[in-house]
Amino acid sequence: MKVVKLIYTSMAFSKLLPVFLSSFLLLLLHLQFSTAQNVVKSAYWFSGSEYPVADIDSTLFTHLFCAFADLNSQNNQVTVSSANQARFSTFTTTVQQKNPSVKTLLSIGGGNANKAAFAFMASQASSRKSFIDSSIRLARTNGFHGLDIDWEYPENSAQMANFGVLLKEWRTAVSTESRSSGKLPLLLSAAVSYSSNYFGVINPVQAISNSLDWINVMAYDFTYRADSVRLTGPPAALYSPGTQISGDAGIRAWIQSGMPSNKIVIGFPYYGHSLRLADANNHGFFAPTNGEVNGGAMGYKQIRQFISQNRATQVYNSTVVSDYCYSGTTWIGYDDTQSVSTKVRYAKGKSLLGYFAWHLANDDNWILTREASRAWGA
Ligand SMILES: *[C@@H]1O[C@H](CO)[C@@H](O)[C@H](O)[C@H]1NC(C)=O
Repeated sequence: MKVVKLIYTSMAFSKLLPVFLSSFLLLLLHLQFSTAQNVVKSAYWFSGSEYPVADIDSTLFTHLFCAFADLNSQNNQVTVSSANQARFSTFTTTVQQKNPSVKTLLSIGGGNANKAAFAFMASQASSRKSFIDSSIRLARTNGFHGLDIDWEYPENSAQMANFGVLLKEWRTAVSTESRSSGKLPLLLSAAVSYSSNYFGVINPVQAISNSLDWINVMAYDFTYRADSVRLTGPPAALYSPGTQISGDAGIRAWIQSGMPSNKIVIGFPYYGHSLRLADANNHGFFAPTNGEVNGGAMGYKQIRQFISQNRATQVYNSTVVSDYCYSGTTWIGYDDTQSVSTKVRYAKGKSLLGYFAWHLANDDNWILTREASRAWGA
């Protein structure tokens, strides 16, 4: 703050003052970012799983996301539902009992959230302010170290531009709050699409990289079709199985469009896609199916049970980095230990910031989480 005063009192600089001030503010922002994390080994805890927070082995994580807070479409404020209030307000103290240095972020939105409410909120200065101020208040009053926005997804260029404006204003507000409270600035992250180019809609990469500590890249939920027929395929392929869509293609697009690799966190799923094979004898990738079994999503723990109960055949495909298993006409594409460790080594090799999993309750006795942590190393 001394430097600001010096510049301010020197009349000779008066013409340059705005330039100096703005570059100094940028420097300040930068310095505040230098509370930067070395690595993000993380997962989301999803309240809908009903998994007890006290059972989370937080020693395996550097960061945990508490999901989800909601956007109230009436007043544009971030709120926690009454069913979640007790668990959210004690989340940080609970997970810090086993690991006092674990950091927590309150995640807002999610795949089932009202997209239109996010789009509206981001479109006007007054509603953005309601969102921003209420989110910061909520994080501080509940003891979180940061906030995570999970708007899936801004769906046109106007919404993407507003998303960028929202993030810039969020960062400014977080910096201001940090200076006035004397606390470390809240961490800011966003869960984003697998690629900076979301099926033709381009993310505001500059605003994202200037405003957020990192992005959580959701490199999963890839589906395959031929005409109207759903095909088997690697749901979270790291490398292209012959389509343009893969985790690696998406992350390369983020980097090429200007996102620093050390602000990218790669995501992998702790669940698989289960499909009904049209022909039990045609069980490789791109085999025709009759659609999903029981809604399609199956947690890793359930997949392991399915494999042992049905003596299902397991296949790891190292070309695309994906696992699948099948028994009879049931086919499940998912990530097992080799896929997870290969992705973590990929992230480390590309100098990414780390990894996250959605969502931790689906792990089986921390098998995947331990594998991920070990693959990254200390
Ligand atoms: C892995 O998947 C790719 C893409 O479908 C395929 O070309 C390749 O043959 C598979 N590898 C093995 C060992 O099955």
